[in-house]
Amino acid sequence: MCGIVGYIGRDRAGRVMLDGLKRLEYRGYDSSGIAVLNSAGIQSTRRTGRVKELEVALGENLGGTLGISHTRWATHGDVTVANAHPHVSSDGKIALVHNGVIENYLSMKKFLDGKGYTFQSDTDTEALTNLIAYHYDKEKEQDNKSRFLEAVRKSLTHVEGTFGVAVLCTDCPGELIGARKGSPLIIGIGKNENLIASDVNAIAHCTQNIVYLNDNEVVHLSSEDFSISTTNSTKVEAIIQTVDWDTAQAELGDYSHFMEKEIFEQPESLKNGMRGRFSDDASTAVFGGLNLSPQDLRSADRIVFLACGTAWHACLVAEYLIERFARIPVEVEYASEFRYRNAPLDKNTLIIAISQSGETIDTLAAIREAKRKGYRTLSINNSVGSSIARECEGGIYQYAGPEIGVASTKAFTSQIMISAMLALYLGRLRSLSYGDGVEIVKAMKTLPKLVSETLDQSGAIATIAKKYAKYEDCLFLGRQMMFPIALEGALKLKEVSYIHAEGYPAAEMKHGPIALISKNCPSVFLATSGEIFQKSLANMQEVKARKGPVICVAGEDCELPEADIDEIIRVPKCHEIIQPILMSIPMQLLSYYIALERGCDVDKPRNLAKSVTVE
Ligand code: F6R
Repeated sequence: MCGIVGYIGRDRAGRVMLDGLKRLEYRGYDSSGIAVLNSAGIQSTRRTGRVKELEVALGENLGGTLGISHTRWATHGDVTVANAHPHVSSDGKIALVHNGVIENYLSMKKFLDGKGYTFQSDTDTEALTNLIAYHYDKEKEQDNKSRFLEAVRKSLTHVEGTFGVAVLCTDCPGELIGARKGSPLIIGIGKNENLIASDVNAIAHCTQNIVYLNDNEVVHLSSEDFSISTTNSTKVEAIIQTVDWDTAQAELGDYSHFMEKEIFEQPESLKNGMRGRFSDDASTAVFGGLNLSPQDLRSADRIVFLACGTAWHACLVAEYLIERFARIPVEVEYASEFRYRNAPLDKNTLIIAISQSGETIDTLAAIREAKRKGYRTLSINNSVGSSIARECEGGIYQYAGPEIGVASTKAFTSQIMISAMLALYLGRLRSLSYGDGVEIVKAMKTLPKLVSETLDQSGAIATIAKKYAKYEDCLFLGRQMMFPIALEGALKLKEVSYIHAEGYPAAEMKHGPIALISKNCPSVFLATSGEIFQKSLANMQEVKARKGPVICVAGEDCELPEADIDEIIRVPKCHEIIQPILMSIPMQLLSYYIALERGCDVDKPRNLAKSVTVE
């Protein structure tokens, strides 16, 4: 959740790190800080609030050849300057930034008690910083270089919990150390300079040559070189990879917000996700990285999807799609629950994780638990080289491009699209006919155009948003595949506008939520044609009868009692397999425009952070 950037090179540490922090701010944005090592020792600047506060405090003071920096999302301790990172050991020798949670920090503090170390903050991180200083002091007799490295290693072996760290030491101006366990950390290899970061995004403008660290690995960097070893000193061979996206994709361009940009990018992100993924006879999907044979996939009796948040909603859509088109029973689990639940599963169960970032700790831990039990694991993932992608047996990349807005939009529709293609593929391995396959492929190919047409209604949706921004409660109601879209609509609205919103299967409303309906609680209905359309209309009338305002998002082919509905948003008529994607677009636009009306910071909603790497 927090962001880390570390630099060692030729006198531009502050500038590079500040640029990196700005690109990482979506990871956490309650405070930030930079420490640079120069002849006067560790120069640390920390501020609460956004990175721009830090930039102002730093002024032109951005030189230095070695530094570490951090943008924080508070876990232990309030949002204060004292709790912001970097933390410096009380003997002034060690500076450290940390992402993750050190669960045994209190016992570390107890261990250090009476040994001369003091604490200025309420954080778990400061305990580790002082522990490294303690081990560094204890290893006095060794030569300086390995002394620093050994002190870091030794301290990390005592950590219970998770960490991505970057560390520097006043006695070692030519060395930077990074390490990870459970929180992502990458190395950027430059010319006469090297970097570490929690996220490719932070440094891809400096170098496209990247090494992904694995858990329990430590990297020791100078400006010319780096070496990787495990926390128990086994040497590790580095695999250098090239970042495969254009860094301009992570820039705002002409848009006001990343959320807006990412909503409007969807025709393109969906096109990228399906490019080259249909068979020559256009009757099924093809995926390069599944690493499971058609026979393996045919023998799966059940699929369990694991995810969190918006990605969990995408899994619910996948459940409908795969059961409908491939006839395989599907279950969807919150990753955070699955990992502790010890659910009995059939031996031929296939586990699929969906994660935009590929770093969500609950999803990663659930995948590890499934692997420990011997299940085959796949992921649908938007971050090439992420932990989840690397730890699953195979998977499908979304290729939606970097998603910077904290509220997920284009990653969600891309996850649904990949799920639809997977449903098609698995269906064609079983009972879905060639003709049905051809029809589905044809429908999928129309998706970018239909999404563009839906986006063309943004002006009308912005007008509706103006009217509804004043309400404090809102219900989202839909049936079948529209139920997860209702859940996602409600999540999006509450995340970015702080309006209390809930999603329900439309018919469930009568079993409790109807008590909320009044002229002050609008309902957003998601209505698609088909056998239950009339039932959705009946649910709408139940709301109207209780004076609840109704916004109805419906397919062009749905005949609506227009006089009874307050607002109507139409989406183009389409094949049912792509309906959930088209219906998501108005949900996203509505939330975005309502949040703007309410003056909310849509790209950095309060209390949230992109990529949740703490449990
Ligand atoms: C909401 C949102 C979150 C994420 C969730 C999982 O807009 O973005 O709910 O969907 O934290 O994140 P990933 O997909 O990165 O595993």
